[in-house]
Amino acid sequence: MTDVASQGPAPGDDRPVLTNRQGHPVYDNQNQRTVGARGPATLENYQFIEKISHFDRERIPERVVHARGVTAYGYFESYGKWGDEPVGRHTRARLFQEAGKRTPVAVRFSTVIGGRDSSEAARDPRGFAVKFYTEDGNWDLVGNNLAVFFIRDAIKFPDVIHALKPDPVSHEQKPARIFDFMSQTPESMHMLVNLFSPRGIPADYRHMQGFGVNTYKWVNEAGDTVLVKYHWLPKLGVRSMTEEDAAAVQAGELGHATKDLYEAVRRGDHPEWELVVQMMSDDDHPELDFDPLDDTKVWPEQEFPPRPVGRMVLDRMPDNYFAENEQISFGTGVLVDGLDFSDDKMLIGRTFSYSDTQRYRVGPNYLQLPVNRAKHATVHTNQRDGLMAYEQDQHGQNPEVNYEPSITGGLREGTYPTHDEQGPEIRGRLTRKRIPRTNDYLQAGQRYCLLEDWERDDLVKNLTDLISQADRAVQERMVWHFLLVENDLGLRVGEGLGIGPKDVAHLEPLAGQDLTDEDRERL
Ligand code: HEM
Repeated sequence: MTDVASQGPAPGDDRPVLTNRQGHPVYDNQNQRTVGARGPATLENYQFIEKISHFDRERIPERVVHARGVTAYGYFESYGKWGDEPVGRHTRARLFQEAGKRTPVAVRFSTVIGGRDSSEAARDPRGFAVKFYTEDGNWDLVGNNLAVFFIRDAIKFPDVIHALKPDPVSHEQKPARIFDFMSQTPESMHMLVNLFSPRGIPADYRHMQGFGVNTYKWVNEAGDTVLVKYHWLPKLGVRSMTEEDAAAVQAGELGHATKDLYEAVRRGDHPEWELVVQMMSDDDHPELDFDPLDDTKVWPEQEFPPRPVGRMVLDRMPDNYFAENEQISFGTGVLVDGLDFSDDKMLIGRTFSYSDTQRYRVGPNYLQLPVNRAKHATVHTNQRDGLMAYEQDQHGQNPEVNYEPSITGGLREGTYPTHDEQGPEIRGRLTRKRIPRTNDYLQAGQRYCLLEDWERDDLVKNLTDLISQADRAVQERMVWHFLLVENDLGLRVGEGLGIGPKDVAHLEPLAGQDLTDEDRERL
């Protein structure tokens, strides 16, 4: 056999020479070093071992949720005001202050439950995570395409995800497991009415909304706070698929939404979303029939009108899937001055979880990677070393002082914000309790009534098909919930399952469940 190495470059071939990571030229990339042409191989074969052992480590763990996704880049442009009112009246966050101010962004769209190569036409919430590279450091707004979530306390997140993921014994995707969990989780009803309607399968990523879902705060120059919710509205409108549409799409292509985004952005068809914000004063709002910190609820638009604050355009796709999509890391703790957390019990749990998983999934120095670093702010920390440390922050004249305080140099603390202790004062006893005003059914029913006829038909069909695969006791409990959501929904799903209102009349409310007077009347 001809030895490729002996062939040398063809005349006029000026391509760079292949090397290993040590910079050594590779003279033969076809044959490993062996004793004689038929082997055995030798262990000091550095080039082969470097190549194969790097290959062995090519994959990092995929995200435990939202494994399949696509990243795109662009900018956010602030409007500076709504009507005559400057946005600065409510938040001092610099990115919102001036009309026309642009902040670069990276966005990652994703599905939640499937693995890294799963279908993008699955019925599943879609992730809508935005990283703003502001001059005050990064801000991540980590949202979904549906306005509410399944649960309201972070302690239940592993359970809801286990129920939605495949069976741990056979790895089969089983609706029986999903509805077993949901039947015991009444706060999931609002999400289920959304997820099993056509909204549960967006046509692609360009035609879907985004929602921050959790409640955050804004802080103004005076330190006054308001509660806010964020929503992204697509300029192209919302498009969804039925189960049949989705089956046809995924028969031909598992990654249709990624493909659609790459093709659109590359041909100059840059998708755009408007960011609107709902706002309410920073208190408990006893007048409302829900808690403003409950992420299974939406805020009625009549009372809390959406206020447009800017627009986002995506105009560039990544050059490297691994570096920019697999390693990009978002988290709800990543806020800038003028933006803050609320006490939403999901938000607090999420804020721990994201950076915890990223230190494990990407590594402790994940924030040094180009896609994650605060590239428009100055970064000076005393953090040192760790796995894959790539660079140390510049410390000016005294790089040896990597501690603080010091009288010989090093870094100093910043100036304290004028009003750091903002918001209402809170006192309470340590406890483990549901929030009051759970009101699990009312908004789910209102959502059902807002659906168009074809969407309602699709919802009923999807729920009936899947719940029919669950145990009879789960089926009955689901019909019981749906009758409380909206009579029509309960009757229709019940009809499909052969379960009438009389068959569920014996069921008591779940242990610890809070029902409203109206719920009780409907029982
Ligand atoms: C990704 C945890 C609720 C949106 C993730 C990841 C974790 C996680 C561990 C993987 C992150 C990574 O590997 O980089 C949680 C917990 C939740 C929760 C503990 C509840 C307590 C939510 C909610 C939303 C959401 C309510 C939507 C508002 C996302 C998105 C991603 C994600 C968009 C993907 C980010 C990306 O593209 O890299 N979540 N999550 N999560 N989560 Fe959550």
